[in-house]
Amino acid sequence: ADTPQRFPDNFVFGGATAAYQVEGACQTHGKGKVAWDDYLAQQGRFSPEPACDFYNRYDSDLELCERFGMNGIRVSIAWSRIFPNGGVGEPNPEGIAFYHNLFASCRARGVEPYVTLHHFDSPAALYANGDFLNRDTIDAFEAYARFCFDEYPEVTRWFTFNEIAAATLNRYVEGTWPQGKKGCLHECLQAQHNMMLAHARAVLAYKQGGYPGTIGVIHALEYKYPYDPACPGDVQAAKNDDVLQNRLLLDATFRGDYAPDTLQIIDHLCQASNGSVEFLDDDLSIMRRAAQLNDCLGINYYQSRFLKAFDGETDLHHNGTGDKGTGRWRVAGVGERAVRPGVPTTDWDWIIYPKGLFDLMMDISLCYPNYKQLFITENGMGRKDQLVDGTVDDSERIAYVEDHLRWILKAIECGVDVGGYFMWSLQDQFSWTNGYNKRYGFFYVDFETQQRTPKASAYWFKRVAQTKRL
Ligand code: BG6
Repeated sequence: ADTPQRFPDNFVFGGATAAYQVEGACQTHGKGKVAWDDYLAQQGRFSPEPACDFYNRYDSDLELCERFGMNGIRVSIAWSRIFPNGGVGEPNPEGIAFYHNLFASCRARGVEPYVTLHHFDSPAALYANGDFLNRDTIDAFEAYARFCFDEYPEVTRWFTFNEIAAATLNRYVEGTWPQGKKGCLHECLQAQHNMMLAHARAVLAYKQGGYPGTIGVIHALEYKYPYDPACPGDVQAAKNDDVLQNRLLLDATFRGDYAPDTLQIIDHLCQASNGSVEFLDDDLSIMRRAAQLNDCLGINYYQSRFLKAFDGETDLHHNGTGDKGTGRWRVAGVGERAVRPGVPTTDWDWIIYPKGLFDLMMDISLCYPNYKQLFITENGMGRKDQLVDGTVDDSERIAYVEDHLRWILKAIECGVDVGGYFMWSLQDQFSWTNGYNKRYGFFYVDFETQQRTPKASAYWFKRVAQTKRL
């Protein structure tokens, strides 16, 4: 009852996409390979081709956005569609033209594009050479970012990276991504820092270039609660996991440096994996300058975590099939992610805890008062949606989104500046580690015929977007 009734007039309501998860045309039209192409082919479990065939169907998908009241969309540019080998050599004219056409369609439909430069899809050659652990990739990323800023003046809403935490944790700690390893905490943290340096260099390039739009980064944040707040081991585990996923990245974003307690935990985590992280003074001075220039932060929020102390062998099992209760995350020297009794989970064991989003937004506004504006750039529920008699009843998803939007309204009332909400995902898409049986969209996709069917959530969201009320 104490939350405001309405979202601000200029609040953005939209759906999110990512190039590799929607476009298809992965190795045609001049696009260079990414590491996922060969990895998925070797695994033979599912193919990113043609995904939702967005490469050919973007205009009809944008027409759906317009029809369902959305005034924004998240898209990403596939780096290897522009520079097939990653920042070296000639750009690919077909790829360049594709994004001009996509952005023109956004304009024509009144749907503002929020554009990410990197969504898990480093060009294959760079990825194989160490990706962001190799400093050449930082240079290449800056060159690619500068190219896009010049080439696409029609874009005024930029994000550099999507989910540095997911990219690094999945590759260096959980081992679920191409060339993945388990438990390499120091490499995970070094890659996070290097990607934040690449972000900072892109922000400085954007600001020095005098471009008129906004720029920020998107982090996958989860509030980390001790399972038992009275148990010191659990409290420490929550702090460890917070640094590993949130704190290093938030400090890097808004301070361009690391707070003493963050550094202390980084040391502790590095000891656990017998390594170290290098922070060069010159890099930190670049990051400190950029930290004052971010126009916004994107938050991808799906769940929070309850941490227990854990000293045993690292034991990780990714639930990639939607078999409830099969996921495990126990990392030596960090902690164990557990579920508190009574807290609901999805079929993929993702904890449903909308208040965690509020706690995060409040935490950011208090710890980093130089933040300017937040966007919820992803939030949503993966389900095994069924198309029955031409409709999809996804009332569970509606409840999930409604609860999160209610906590966003509360944060706005507490003075947090929140500019918009993008549900993950616009339409059902290809999922990196789950394939096609984990559906997130407003629009059901028949992956045989590519037909789209609006789910119940699409009609519900249309009313919310149009009235700005829940
Ligand atoms: C985010 C990513 O991590 O979560 C998306 O930005 C991803 O690319 C989404 O698809 C959902 O994750 P998953 O594993 O359920 O597809």
